[in-house]
Amino acid sequence: MDDLEALKARHLVAVADAADEDALEAARLAALGKKGEVALKMRELGKMTPEERQTAGPALNALKDELNAAIAARRAALADAALEARLRDEWLDVTLPARDRRAGTIHPVSQVTEEVTAIFADMGFAVAEGPQVESDWFNFDALNIPPEHPARQEHDTFFMHRADGDNRPPHVLRTHTSPVQIRAMQAHGAPLRVIAPGRVYRCDYDQTHTPMFHQVEGLAIDRDISMAHLKWVLEEFCRAFFEVDEVELRFRASHFPFTEPSAEVDLRCSWADGQLKVGEGDDWMEILGSGMVHPKVLAAGGIDPDQWQGFAFGLGIDRLAMLKYGIPDLRAFFDSDLRWLRHYGFSALDVPTLRGGLGG
Ligand code: PHE
Repeated sequence: MDDLEALKARHLVAVADAADEDALEAARLAALGKKGEVALKMRELGKMTPEERQTAGPALNALKDELNAAIAARRAALADAALEARLRDEWLDVTLPARDRRAGTIHPVSQVTEEVTAIFADMGFAVAEGPQVESDWFNFDALNIPPEHPARQEHDTFFMHRADGDNRPPHVLRTHTSPVQIRAMQAHGAPLRVIAPGRVYRCDYDQTHTPMFHQVEGLAIDRDISMAHLKWVLEEFCRAFFEVDEVELRFRASHFPFTEPSAEVDLRCSWADGQLKVGEGDDWMEILGSGMVHPKVLAAGGIDPDQWQGFAFGLGIDRLAMLKYGIPDLRAFFDSDLRWLRHYGFSALDVPTLRGGLGG
């Protein structure tokens, strides 16, 4: 069994020389694997006489134990060395001076959304939400815009792709927040008082249009809601939002498929010296679309139009933010330019409330 000593010495050297886990595993397989040298020796036991086997068997077992022990020791040593190397490479000098502390700011769109929400919450409006990827039924049909209606073209809609062979009408990126009217009616029934702020999408891009922008929808349904309530709510809103005592609104007859009658609402203002002043002057600024909810829309929302009626309005948040905070170009809203955000952003700790002040 002299060759056993030589075999052992060779494998112990291979184990000791293994420079990493992979090399160690290869050395282990060469010695103790199914086709390793020790296994081959084991097979030779069968051909031996019982006497020979009596010494060769224990000798082979002792060899196996010794090699296993050497492999385990080498594995532990490699792990220690790896840890040493990490500790050496990944050190950190905690005595270095800290970076300047930079507080993030609240984006004007978020700020104005919070302001609008606070004002309407004070008037008893809850916040409703809907998906931005919307079915064409919610975005159009339920709002009394059938497939052939010209309003579908005017909306410059983004359509979502359907799988080949799927002939159902494509989903759309919602072109306005009005589909949330239907979702809120279906979810809660009447009476109902909600606003729905959120992102909307239209394929349009210039100084006053971005393909994604923000609206707030308003919806109030009860047994005897009238245009007079709409007018009061909007006046209250403008007074609170622009923080002036007197506002004057002008209702201009208009047309939306989902309201009847419909009105676009203008706000009296002045632009003297390029400064916007609300409530005075001879200019009128269009701020929103509105009207009495069309009976077909109530019915699509599962509400009986013979029992209930209501008003709805939709206004553009980005435009309100530009007006109130004097921001000239809409496109800069979505450039993620830190200098712009630092200039126009709001402190995260100034949460807008009616009591504490809305901002600005
Ligand atoms: N959805 C309309 C738009 O995006 C606005 C609107 C909402 C008009 C509710 C009337 C009532 O232009």
